[in-house]
Amino acid sequence: MISVRPLDAPFGAEITGIDLSEDALDSAVKPIVDALHENRFVVIRDQALDTDRYMAFGEQFGTPIPHVLDHLRMRGYPAIMEVGNTEKQHRKEAVRNGAVFWHTDQSYEAEPSSATMLYAIKVPKQGGETLIADLAGAYDALDDETKERIDGLVVKHLYGAASGRGDEKIASPLINEEQVEKVPPVHHRLVRPHPVTGRKTLYAVAGTCYGIVGMDDEEAQDLLAELKEHALQDRFIYKHKYDLGDIAIWDTSATLHSGTSIDFADSEENSRLLYRISVRGKPRVYQ
Ligand SMILES: [Fe+2]
Repeated sequence: MISVRPLDAPFGAEITGIDLSEDALDSAVKPIVDALHENRFVVIRDQALDTDRYMAFGEQFGTPIPHVLDHLRMRGYPAIMEVGNTEKQHRKEAVRNGAVFWHTDQSYEAEPSSATMLYAIKVPKQGGETLIADLAGAYDALDDETKERIDGLVVKHLYGAASGRGDEKIASPLINEEQVEKVPPVHHRLVRPHPVTGRKTLYAVAGTCYGIVGMDDEEAQDLLAELKEHALQDRFIYKHKYDLGDIAIWDTSATLHSGTSIDFADSEENSRLLYRISVRGKPRVYQ
C-alpha cells in the first residue's frame, strides 16, 4: 500500500510501499505525480529497476530530454546521464562537480525541464547530497511590494551564465561550437505559474539568469541576487542524503538545486553513482 509522508524538512515527502519493478506504471505514477506537485520534492525508497524499466518510469513524467552535453549521455540511453564519481568522465572535476551551483535544469532552453529524477545506484558513506530550495515557498514569503515589483518581469537566461559565483562551481562547460549553437539565450517569466497547478512561483533565480528585459543590467543583477539570497535561506532548503535504491524527484518548475562537491572515488565506500533523467512537458496522466 503506497504511503506518502512529509519529510522532517521545510518541504518534500517520502514515498514507500510501492515496487516500481512490478506495479503497473500508469496507475502507480498518479499518486507520485500528485505528491510531487504538492511537495516539490519526493523520494521513493527501496527501488530495484533495470535501466529499461527506469526509463519507462521516467517517461511517465514527460518527454525525456537528452542533455546538450551529448558527450555525457549514457550509451544506449541518450536521455540518461550518469552523475557521480565512478566513471571515466568523472575524473574531470568540471564534469564530476559540474552541478555544484544553484540552478534548475534546462532553464537555458525555451521549453525547460518540468521534473528531474536521480536513481541511486551507488551511494557514498559520506557526502554526495543534493540540496534543493523551494521557490514556491520563497515566492509566498515575499512581501507584497516585492511581489508587485517582480510580477510580469521577463528574465534573460543563458547556459551557465550565473554559475561560478562565490563558493559555487562553474557549470560543466560546453565543449564545441555545435553545443553552443544549440543553446542560444532564452527568456522566461520571473514569476512563472506552475505548468500543472498554476501556483505562482519564482523561477530560475540562479544558474542561468543574467538580465531582465527592459531593465538596466546592474539593477537586474542586483534584483536577481536579492531574490536568490531570499530563496536560499535555510527555511526553504532541504538536503537529501541518498540511500541505495532511492529515486529522488524534484519539480524543476518550482525549485532550485545544487550538488555538493565530491572527490573521484578510490573505493566502494566513497562511490557515488546516480542515473539522471530530466523531462519536459506534462506527466502522462495530465496529457
Ligand atoms: Fe541539475
